[in-house]
Amino acid sequence: MGSGAREHALVWKLARSAKVEEIYVAPGNAGTALSAHNINIDSLDIKSLAGAARERDIGLVVVGPEAPLAQGIVDYFQGAGIPIFGPTKAAAEIEASKVFAKELMRKYNIPCARSASFSDYGEAKDYLRRQPPPVVVKADGLAAGKGVVVADSIPQALEALSQFMVAKSLGAAGDRVLIEEYLSGREMSSFAFTDGDAVVVMPSACDYKRAHDGDRGPNTGGMGSYSPPHFYSDGLARTVRETILEPTVRAMAGEGRRYKGVLYGGLMVADNGPKALEFNARFGDPETQVILPLLKSDLVDVLMAVTSGTLAQVSVEWSDRACVGVVMASAGYPGGYRTGFPITGLDQVDEDVLVFHAGTKVGPGGEVVTAGGRVLTVVATGKTIAQARKKVYLNLPRIHFEGCHYRRDIAEIRAA
Ligand code: AMP
Ligand code: GLY
Repeated sequence: MGSGAREHALVWKLARSAKVEEIYVAPGNAGTALSAHNINIDSLDIKSLAGAARERDIGLVVVGPEAPLAQGIVDYFQGAGIPIFGPTKAAAEIEASKVFAKELMRKYNIPCARSASFSDYGEAKDYLRRQPPPVVVKADGLAAGKGVVVADSIPQALEALSQFMVAKSLGAAGDRVLIEEYLSGREMSSFAFTDGDAVVVMPSACDYKRAHDGDRGPNTGGMGSYSPPHFYSDGLARTVRETILEPTVRAMAGEGRRYKGVLYGGLMVADNGPKALEFNARFGDPETQVILPLLKSDLVDVLMAVTSGTLAQVSVEWSDRACVGVVMASAGYPGGYRTGFPITGLDQVDEDVLVFHAGTKVGPGGEVVTAGGRVLTVVATGKTIAQARKKVYLNLPRIHFEGCHYRRDIAEIRAA
């Protein structure tokens, strides 16, 4: 379920399994239509989705985005006897409520930033005035990436607070807020498959959230990613697993919210170790586009084992190559943009380069046209990050649509 490049990557990987007969995607895009059947149902229309799954005798449902998880799609499908991969509504609260996630981290000693939560605007304001800048203001609920403001000054933080709590710019998502200590370091996304007991960690990835080179410009849904991070090491991987991912899975079980699915930690790696900034209840976008090409095992085996609670019995193998993905976006994105432009050169890329579609659709004449802000993620692997990066940037200019733009500095490793 879903329509982004993350979902196209999932479809691509699932299609490589001998265990898969047919794949259906709701709603999908022009890329998923190449190896799957698109079904035109919105990912929040849970009842219709369940009907469609039952009609087609679907053996496993895989959920891409967070909103249906937070609405309880897993509980609903389980109740209807339809196998589904993902956390229940109670478990997905780890993403749907930042206040819940923070209380969990504090209760179970999971390293994170110091913070305080408020539902009263006056109290939040008083507290904020006493904090040293920079400071981070977070809306509690789901906000599609718009719920976090890293403020350099207290007036700027007060403005964000007033937007969330008084102007209600994010609706009920801003009824409660977290005011959080600013952490500096290197940001990294870490992922694990878990059945609530066994924890299988995936290679970590770095995500480039800003629109322009040098991490300038507005925030986006992600302009590129690479895996593994250049600063990654066995020691860091072990620390992330032992101090963050495994304790969080145990904490959720301890709270009676057994967590099954993908647990995604947004981490800040500082000199004194990694800390959790937030958790998500799903695969990351664009991280998934650079992680799944490194998975050597059959994804169906892993997802089925998670769903049936037998993950400990599965051995999951990863390639030791590097993978780089660059997002091609429409002119104007993340602001307003136009769509409907034909995309050329999709068949001109090297055989081992992957093109995952996001905002695309099949136009009236059968041609692929743009249909969103982020249009494609172009992905290559290599022996090193530099080799993968070189291959991606060699292939990107072969694809074109009017106004297309992409960052030139994804996976560019500068001396610290
Ligand atoms: P989140 O949605 O909580 O991951 O926050 C979005 C972005 O805000 C993160 O990717 C970080 O770049 C930044 N951020 C969040 N919390 C902090 C923090 N405590 N210190 C510094 N940056 C943060
Ligand atoms: N990479 C950011 C996200 O998936 O939320």
